[in-house]
Amino acid sequence: MEIIIRKDYGQMSISAAEIIAGLVKDKPDCVIGLATGSTPIATYRHLIHLHKEQGLDFSNVKTFNLDEYLGIGIDLGRPYETDQSYARFMHEELFKHINIKKENIHIPDGLAKEPEKFCAWYEEEIKKAGGIDLQLLGIGGDGHLAFNEPGSSLFSRTRVQALAKQTLDDNFESFYSKANVKREDMPHYAITMGVGTILESKHALMIASGAKKAGIIAEALEGCVTSKVTASALQLHPGRVTVMLDEGASSKLTWSIN
Ligand code: PGA
Repeated sequence: MEIIIRKDYGQMSISAAEIIAGLVKDKPDCVIGLATGSTPIATYRHLIHLHKEQGLDFSNVKTFNLDEYLGIGIDLGRPYETDQSYARFMHEELFKHINIKKENIHIPDGLAKEPEKFCAWYEEEIKKAGGIDLQLLGIGGDGHLAFNEPGSSLFSRTRVQALAKQTLDDNFESFYSKANVKREDMPHYAITMGVGTILESKHALMIASGAKKAGIIAEALEGCVTSKVTASALQLHPGRVTVMLDEGASSKLTWSIN
């Protein structure tokens, strides 16, 4: 595991985007796993900048998003208004600004009629694409990876997962309250890639920013591997792991930095 510390959120985001851009240049038909939340927004902005200013080409890139709320979602071809789906987030924050092909975008379908079947199909699609070359990850306040809440099996695959109270609180504060959605009307379930699915990515790139994340980052990177903090499973990742932090998020690490 490589831990890189940048001064602030902006620098951290540029460095994370450069790792992704490096892969796109080396392997134009790469498969990238994408994350949502507030943390990756500036990483996506820098990728958009690299596309617009330097011609970074996404035309053969395939993407698979980590998760989606159950009960909401959009087909990118259909109109949408104020929904807080991750499909909408990805479209607004990244996809509509770059030259990615619609057919190369995969996001769990929050409106799937048969979610279990959908999850099995999603796993198959990842396999058919040759697996994920690079998986971008955030970390939740409760230590979750994607929506793998505390108690999720470290062998878990793509499935339906109930959201933990802390996740609902965090996402209400970051997104739903701003869209005037009541806390009780937020979706309480999601489709998420499993921890096992994520551990099969060739390169995992986790990003975290701010002192608010410092405690959970220290637990995930320096604590025991436990389903209580599913991000700790990155310690078991057999391939490459990069953790990109700003100074705030790294401030409680003790032995893994010098
Ligand atoms: P955040 O969420 O980027 O909004 O902090 C991260 C996550 O829940 O994985």
